[in-house]
Amino acid sequence: MMLLHIPEVLTAEELAHARMLLANAQWQDGRATAGPQAQEVKKNLQLPVQGDAARELATLVQTALTRSPLFMSAALPKVTMTPMFNCYQSGMTYGNHVDNAIRIDPLTRQYVRTDVSSTLFFSQPDEYEGGELVVEDTYGLHSVKLAAGDMIVYPSTSLHRVEPVRSGARIASFFWTQSMVRSDQQRAMLFNLDMAIIALRQRVGDNPEVVSLTAMYHNLLRMWGEI
Ligand code: NI
Repeated sequence: MMLLHIPEVLTAEELAHARMLLANAQWQDGRATAGPQAQEVKKNLQLPVQGDAARELATLVQTALTRSPLFMSAALPKVTMTPMFNCYQSGMTYGNHVDNAIRIDPLTRQYVRTDVSSTLFFSQPDEYEGGELVVEDTYGLHSVKLAAGDMIVYPSTSLHRVEPVRSGARIASFFWTQSMVRSDQQRAMLFNLDMAIIALRQRVGDNPEVVSLTAMYHNLLRMWGEI
């Protein structure tokens, strides 16, 4: 399983503008969008997706994603759901859960299989205590708290939670992607191969072996990808 930290998904200008919108937004109870099991453990605030602020913020995040080569390579997105926004403060938490496998995008009404989960941070780590995103995998627990503008990408198949926020406010965007490659393992292999090819090409240029490895990448994607 792969957790990927993508730094500086947002520019400083985008981050400042987004933080201004988020600071002035009207929040609602997050249980509105949770399934029955998640409702038991979910205590946070969310932006109503139909609101003007949420729509502007969602577009801002979607634009940033499309120019992130790391996100594109790691997620191999077929469809990315409309990004949503949450806030944890004064003890709010989201206990251990797995995200619903199939979701309906609240704006497009499109069915999406959740293969890849992403969390993009808008609060700086020193603006709140607690609030770590903890993701479980076969090797143990990974505790994640990133700089504002940074993003973590992880397989939607993993159990995860948000630890209680003891002080301050933790504001983030979260969203799901249906990948062209359903298998976490195959997707991680393609990502690692892509990164190795990029590093190799920078060292040695487009020699015949690099071209051959690039062909293998595309032929594996042709074998495993669904559009
Ligand atoms: Ni979740």
